[in-house]
Amino acid sequence: MKKEFSDCYDLVVYQIYPRSFKDSNGDGIGDINGILSKLDYLKDLGVNAIWLCPIFKSPQCDNGYDISDYRDIDPIYGTMADFDRLLTVAHEKGIKVIMDFVANHTSSEHEWFRRARSSKSDPYHDYYYWADKPLNDWRSEFGGSAWEYNEPTGEYYLHCFAVGQPDVNWNNPKVREEFKSIVDFWVKKGVDGFRCDVLDHISKDFEKGLRRNGPHLHEYIREVFGRDHLLNLYTVGEAETTEESILATCGQDRRELKSVFQFSHLMVGRKGRYTPVPCRMDEVKDILEGWERFTEERDLLYVLLTDNHDRPWFLSRTGNDRELRYECATCVATMVYLLRGVPFIYEGQEIGCANSHFDDLTAFNDVECLGYYEENKDKESEEKLLAEINFGSRDNSRRPFAWDGSPNHGFTTAAAPWLPYASRSDEINLEADLASEKSIWRYYRDLLALRRERVAFRQGSCRQLQPSKKDCYVYLREYEGERFLVVCNFEREQRFTGLPEGRLLLSNLKRRAGANGVYAPYECAVYDLTNR
Ligand code: GLC
Ligand code: CA
Repeated sequence: MKKEFSDCYDLVVYQIYPRSFKDSNGDGIGDINGILSKLDYLKDLGVNAIWLCPIFKSPQCDNGYDISDYRDIDPIYGTMADFDRLLTVAHEKGIKVIMDFVANHTSSEHEWFRRARSSKSDPYHDYYYWADKPLNDWRSEFGGSAWEYNEPTGEYYLHCFAVGQPDVNWNNPKVREEFKSIVDFWVKKGVDGFRCDVLDHISKDFEKGLRRNGPHLHEYIREVFGRDHLLNLYTVGEAETTEESILATCGQDRRELKSVFQFSHLMVGRKGRYTPVPCRMDEVKDILEGWERFTEERDLLYVLLTDNHDRPWFLSRTGNDRELRYECATCVATMVYLLRGVPFIYEGQEIGCANSHFDDLTAFNDVECLGYYEENKDKESEEKLLAEINFGSRDNSRRPFAWDGSPNHGFTTAAAPWLPYASRSDEINLEADLASEKSIWRYYRDLLALRRERVAFRQGSCRQLQPSKKDCYVYLREYEGERFLVVCNFEREQRFTGLPEGRLLLSNLKRRAGANGVYAPYECAVYDLTNR
């Protein structure tokens, strides 16, 4: 494996949703100096990279995914000097910084779009997609038509997301030059990588009705990220994750990206975004195992994750987030983060955050769920819509981080945060977790330490044992004579037999003497088999 790829196995990325992490100046919104004040917290946890959701200048119609200046920091988050300091201090502490790269669309307030929409003859007009009438019946991801009328030119522009997020025309070479120079601007500052937002959307095919995965996708990715001075960057794309497209985007000879997210195991337990369906952890296991095989055989870098800012908590959908919250959170983390790939931890996972429940819509901010409400309010009962939104809204995972049990949870000194605290924040907060004998945080720390200390968990091969046994995931990690056994039991108590015995290294119930025995629901354990 090429070194720039194999180095990535040492990364442990912590995703920060800057609005909700830590507020430093009492305005109720998390910010850069808040992040700076928590770098030691992250270091203690054992992460060595942070990915920041967009902190660039933005009208915030989609919380920063609508950028009006790619080279400046939004004042709600601080200044460029604050960012420079964050970068310097993070690097001093051995923490890499990964930025969000939002290239499919800009904000409608971006200078390019202001000019583009002013007249057909403006040099920026061609930076976006225009048509005299809607070219098709595409819907915006956030509700309504994907085409919006623009009075000054008498045309419609395309926005696959919000009206305030016009899609950029990547077929225009000038646009590609712009984005290359934006990447270079941040690389010159010293950032270590990019998470590329809806990257597969940058090439479209109107004739074939493709709003993503158009014919030039790979060419454009290579044009930006395949340049020699960028080959050591860590890049991760949000893009389609069929086997074919992962191979095409992340193959080591492709000069495109290092990795793409794989979300298919996060679709279990729901139909669409808002409807729960029964699910079993076995489904998750089978999907993970499938990707594990596929990526290992082809030497592809795989991203290990269960949560991000775009979905309700995995724990609440697939497990027991009440009586067995600790067991479930730690078992899932063990199952996922000891596999072969790059762990991504989303803020709050390390204290076992769970979904909220709110009785009215004023507790929500997410443009997507509010759009869903608007589209359906005349068809469905208020009660049904609220239940769906509580289940599926992206706000579940965007609520302010609860650092302690005080009224403002140590997040801000403002009377109220930008988005109400999660409804269970009195129970689920860092302080309460650390005070408990069953601390999810300490388990995460120990788990990450294990991964860091034993090369087999990073570079080793991975093989499933007893694949036909249900309700568990058991696998071996092996590297140059080092061997480890990972046993994750799911929902029901069951006995294990026929497993190799080894020395216990880690277990969430701290009581297991041997690999063969009765495991409680969501009990997990890791054994050292080296020299056995
Ligand atoms: C990505 C982001 C999401 C955003 C969307 C549009 O999916 O993760 O938060 O709303 O792209 O930029
Ligand atoms: Ca603030």
